[in-house]
Amino acid sequence: MKVVNSLTIKRPDDWHLHLRDGAAIASVVRHSAERFGGALIMPNLKPPITTVDQAFEYRRRILMALPEGSQFVPYMTLYLTDNTTPEEIKLAAQNSFVIAAKLYPAGATTNSDGGVTDIKKMGHVFDAMVRWGLPLCVHGEVTDPSVDIFDREAVFVERVLSPIVRDHSDLKIVLEHVTTKEGVDFVCNCDPNVAATITAHHLLMNRNALFEGGLRPHNYCLPVAKREEHRQALIEAAISGNPKFFLGTDSAPHAKGAKEAACGCAGCYTAHAGIELYAEAFDKANALDMLEGFASFYGADFYGLPRNTDTITLVRQPRQITDLHPFGDSSLVPYRAGGSVAWTLEGLGDH
Ligand code: NCD
Ligand code: ZN
Repeated sequence: MKVVNSLTIKRPDDWHLHLRDGAAIASVVRHSAERFGGALIMPNLKPPITTVDQAFEYRRRILMALPEGSQFVPYMTLYLTDNTTPEEIKLAAQNSFVIAAKLYPAGATTNSDGGVTDIKKMGHVFDAMVRWGLPLCVHGEVTDPSVDIFDREAVFVERVLSPIVRDHSDLKIVLEHVTTKEGVDFVCNCDPNVAATITAHHLLMNRNALFEGGLRPHNYCLPVAKREEHRQALIEAAISGNPKFFLGTDSAPHAKGAKEAACGCAGCYTAHAGIELYAEAFDKANALDMLEGFASFYGADFYGLPRNTDTITLVRQPRQITDLHPFGDSSLVPYRAGGSVAWTLEGLGDH
């Protein structure tokens, strides 16, 4: 087989990204803006983005933090709570900058305390989302402490997602950062209005990476990485050309001290190599030709947004990853810190 040493694709978008707030935004958004045309910005700030007005203000802060001349588009999401009203959904759907609402089961992940405590009570909100055409992004894990942490996604799919799809068959749903074979199979068996994002780190590591020679807090994210057979299912889905599966990095920056702690928080920072890591995963699966659809087309198509028209070029050339990146007034440890990524984005400036 011919070895591909350079790959030019239409500019990708990132359909799941955490940028945080304040001075932190500028430290991380430049990495995304160098690679991606736009990104779906997660609303799990402290306090969360629960109204269209807050989303508008947050978007303004992101635009202010962008490098000069950047065309990067932040697409905003609304954080659903027990108190979200159908009116707020209508407001969200009636502007062009909020494009989805995010369901966090309360307590499932970082800054999800204000999330939804009883999904059965959200029927009127989901009805409004169908009515006004606002997609639902889902953090797909149950919070029941009696459920094994590695089973929380599969149990969510069976107990929670499946009834939502059954009762709201016209609702557009994205199962965010899918990590299991059960999740992939469920999405495949649904109508085209149900899709999923896949992160690069879940394509590149299985749960062994959490304990490689000792506890590895920087590989800890939620949903937590699963067994190798699940990683294989994610690879198959990503390279299949099925438009239900598209790119969402879930790049989730945390200060070094918050990860390297007695109770370290969840999240992998991958934005600094946001497309290169996917190229590595697709290349290992001999499927570089499938990267463009997954990274640059299917997500935009799902959200009914224009595909980017300019291109990026990746070259097969290892790039060293620094130990630390600035993060507001502290610093963060990027994915592969001290190691390298096998592909380099052409024209990459100072990193
Ligand atoms: C995310 C974060 O830090 O905001 N963490 C993570 O482990 N992925 C939240 C999330 O997307 O679950
Ligand atoms: Zn996330």
